[in-house]
Amino acid sequence: MNATLLILGGTAEAFELAERMVEKPNLRVLSSLAGRTNAPRLPPGQIRIGGFGGASGLSEFLRTERIDAVVDATHPFASRMGWNADRACTAMSTPLLRLERPAWQRQKADRWDEVGSWDEAAERLRRHASRAFLALGRLDLDAFAELDGIWCLIRSVERPDLPPGLAQSTLVSSRGPFTLEGDLALLREHRIDTIACKNSGGPIGYAKIEAARQLGLRVVMRQRPPRPDLPMVMSVAEAVAWVDRVLSD
Ligand SMILES: NC(=O)c1ccc[n+]([C@@H]2O[C@H](COP(=O)([O-])OP(=O)(O)OC[C@H]3O[C@@H](n4cnc5c(N)ncnc54)[C@H](OP(=O)(O)O)[C@@H]3O)[C@@H](O)[C@H]2O)c1
Repeated sequence: MNATLLILGGTAEAFELAERMVEKPNLRVLSSLAGRTNAPRLPPGQIRIGGFGGASGLSEFLRTERIDAVVDATHPFASRMGWNADRACTAMSTPLLRLERPAWQRQKADRWDEVGSWDEAAERLRRHASRAFLALGRLDLDAFAELDGIWCLIRSVERPDLPPGLAQSTLVSSRGPFTLEGDLALLREHRIDTIACKNSGGPIGYAKIEAARQLGLRVVMRQRPPRPDLPMVMSVAEAVAWVDRVLSD
């Protein structure tokens, strides 16, 4: 096949898919990153960085780069990109697959409080928490600006600009993966009673969920945002099989 695959990336799954696809003969593999982090881990193959300029910008990109298939392997919470990809690929009749890691499932001993927005999560913290661990992206913190006297520990990949209400928080910068022992120690050290996080799924952030279960802590868990109705797979192997099938048609 002489073809070009576009991978919308920014996740471990997108990285692994690029690694697998560059081994295919006569396939150009182009990975796209949003450019949010300063030193991203770059997958093999060609790379482009930065937004496309909405669905119309992506349509134009698909046309000029002669893209034959797209895999949206962005993070489960990167939904705007997913909706744009759906519109652009529909407009250009380009096959599109969603690759999304499974969500974490609540276990018997978990004390999850599932919410649909960060505003709702902040409200739950105001009602129930006194010492909270905000395990969120730095761009998600604005909704937690008015927590009124709740002490916060914040962990994010890069140092965030804190909204005024969180200025007194303690910061931990780390990309993970995190360990159960490490997260148990962190939660105990800071006497955390509630964790706020998103249901990212996957192994990298799961230690805090296990640690909360062991310590009996409440977890305010943001559910995943809605997505377009698309063919979807949950593993890289299934995505490889889809690309092989679509490009050999
Ligand atoms: N949200 C999270 O919790 C999270 C966690 C880990 C990693 N990430 C990664 O970080 C990136 C941004 O996440 P987000 O939540 O800000 O996304 P988003 O809300 O879905 O997207 C916002 C805008 O960022 C641009 N964009 C997003 N992903 C892109 C990609 N792979 N390549 C080129 N442009 C992209 C698009 O800009 P234009 O409209 O200009 O095209 C999009 O409209 C994603 O690649 C995602 O996989 C996100």
